[in-house]
Order: sequence, then C-alpha cells, then structure tokens
Amino acid sequence: MSELLSVENLIVRFRVRDMLSSLLKPGSPSHIEAVSGVSFHINQGETFGLVGESGSGKTTLGQALIGLAPVNQGSIQFMGQELAGLSERAYKPQRRNMTMMFQDPTGCLSPRLRVESILAQPFLIHGVRMENKTTKIEELLSLVGLPPEFKNRYPHQLSGGQARRIGLARALALSPRLIIADEPTAGLDVSIQGDILNLLGKVQEESKVSVLAITHNLAVIRHISERMAIMYLGRFVEVGSTEEIFARPSHPYTQALLAANPIPDPDEAHARVELKGDVPSLVNRPKGCEFHSRCPHCRDKCEIESPRLQKLAPGHHVMCHYPLNN
Ligand SMILES: Nc1ncnc2c1ncn2[C@@H]1O[C@H](COP(=O)(O)OP(=O)(O)OP(=O)(O)O)[C@@H](O)[C@H]1O
Ligand code: SF4
Ligand SMILES: [Mg+2]
Repeated sequence: MSELLSVENLIVRFRVRDMLSSLLKPGSPSHIEAVSGVSFHINQGETFGLVGESGSGKTTLGQALIGLAPVNQGSIQFMGQELAGLSERAYKPQRRNMTMMFQDPTGCLSPRLRVESILAQPFLIHGVRMENKTTKIEELLSLVGLPPEFKNRYPHQLSGGQARRIGLARALALSPRLIIADEPTAGLDVSIQGDILNLLGKVQEESKVSVLAITHNLAVIRHISERMAIMYLGRFVEVGSTEEIFARPSHPYTQALLAANPIPDPDEAHARVELKGDVPSLVNRPKGCEFHSRCPHCRDKCEIESPRLQKLAPGHHVMCHYPLNN
C-alpha cells in the first residue's frame, strides 16, 4: 500500500503567556507543546484513528496537517509534497486534496447561507467552475443520503446528524484524497452515530479517500479504522493496527481507555482499569513518564526516566518502560 501522508516528529507550540506576564513572572513557561514530536503515516484509502482524552492534542494535530495550526518543527509529506513551512498561498491548493470535517458541525456552517451556498463554497474558494450547479449540489446531497430539497435549508433548520452530513458533503465536494474527520459523531444520538459511521464507511469505500478519524470514542475507532494511535499530552503513546491494540493493549493508558469504554463482546473483556486523576497540565509536564501519576503499573524508574516509543511488533509501537501483554 502506498503512503499518502507521512508525518515526522511534528511539533506544534502555542504561546500561553504574553510578553508582559513573562517579564512579571519569569521562569514559568511561555509556550505549551500541544503536539510534541508525533510521527505516523496514512496509506491511500486507509482510515487511521486517533483517540485520547480532551486536551490531548487531537484537533491541533488535525489542524496542523491542514495548515490551520502552526508547525514549529517536523515534516508533513502529503502526495509527495512537503507542507511544513509552506506559506498560506502555497498551502491553499492542497486544501482541495485534504479537507476537514470540523468538530463543531453547526458552528462551522455559515448561519446566513443556505445549504446550496455552503456546498458551493469549496468551488468558489478554489476557483473550480461548476458546470451545472444545481445538479452538482443535488449529487453531493444524494452522496450523503439527503434529499434535493435540503439545498434550500439554513443551518439552524438542520438536526445534528443532518449538519454532519452537510459537513461531510462539503468535505467531499472537490473529491479530496484525505478527510480529517474531527469527532464525526460527537453529540449525536447513538442510533444516528451508527448512520454517520456507516455513511463515512460507504463513502470511503466508494471514493477510496483516506480518513483521519479523530474521536474520544474507541467504539467508533474500532468500527472504522484499520490502524490507530492513542494520544496523551501531545504524544503518541501507542500506535498499531486496531485489531492488535484491541486484542493486546500494551500501554497502561490504552488499557484504561479500553476499560472505560463499554465492550460489547464479553470474551474480549479486558482487566478493568479505571483512569484515575486528572490529565496533567501541559504548562507543567510531569517528569519521567508523563502518565506515571495515573498509572497503576508505575515503578521507580517511571518517575525519573522518560520512556521512548519502542517497537513491540512490526507496526506496533508503545511508549512505556513496562508494556503490558508483552
Ligand atoms: N490556539 C490555541 N492557543 C493556546 N492553546 C491552545 C490553542 N488551541 C489548543 N490549545 C491547547 O492545546 C491543547 C490541545 O488542544 P486540542 O483542542 O488539540 O485537544 P483535543 O484533543 O482536540 O481535545 P478535545 O477532545 O476536547 O477536542 C489544549 O491544552 C488546548 O487548551
Ligand atoms: S512507563 Fe511506567 S508509568 Fe509510564 S505507562 Fe509505563 S508502566 Fe506506567
Ligand atoms: Mg478536539
């Protein structure tokens, strides 16, 4: 399988203190590293899942790929082109090929535009002529399972599930090669979550588009992704095939996340490990293993020495001194 996207050692920093407060309170960090040295790849036509608790850096990583968050270090190779460091002008053409379904589906649809205009936006932005606008809009609506009349609706006239469908239709408008789907099912009823996932799967199969699926929800990831990464404080703590990670979670954080999600098949029940404590602050990262204060398997070494990402099996990596199920 050929690689569509290849990310190496990506770092995204945000300033959290202005110059004046830095002068008044010297010594405290002025930046946080929301994405801290992440490497992975996505193959053509593949769905790659990204999970982690709130604030772990999932959206920031997705935004960095598409040029909406600053890349301070590292490389983003997409369709053979290096994107890190490109100017906004040079980035723009690649946003035809890499699109994003945003985390807040209604908020990102302009409230004063009808669905028809919302779906026409990508064509206008990229200067692509629409031969027959009405037909094209109706085709896009049909692709996401909505009837043609929906073109006349405003965003406030859409349910959560319908807004996701419109978000997906807009992301698909220019036949991209990669869709970054940020929490595609968050806030939806369980029955509608299934509809949206099945739709994403169907579209993915038909168009062979690759998908980066970002979510808190491990059941979602399991349903749609071939490979996945678990993110904690801006780092990937485990990466591997979804099947392998669900069968043999190796990082204690992965195991805790799996245990915190309902597991439908009792034969696959993992040891119950609940996540204790709060996520540490990015302003003041813990020493040693950054998960140690919450880890039921913590030993002395963990409090002093940071673990590196180590290979457990081909394609399966974990950032832990004492991987489980190993
Ligand atoms: N523009 C910004 N300026 C400063 N800090 C930011 C900015 N955007 C995000 N952050 C911080 O970066 C960290 C990662 O945020 P991000 O939104 O990427 O997390 P997430 O994993 O998507 O969380 P959620 O699951 O809640 O959507 C958080 O600590 C957040 O407060
Ligand atoms: S390195 Fe130690 S503290 Fe960190 S996850 Fe592994 S066992 Fe737990
Ligand atoms: Mg997010």
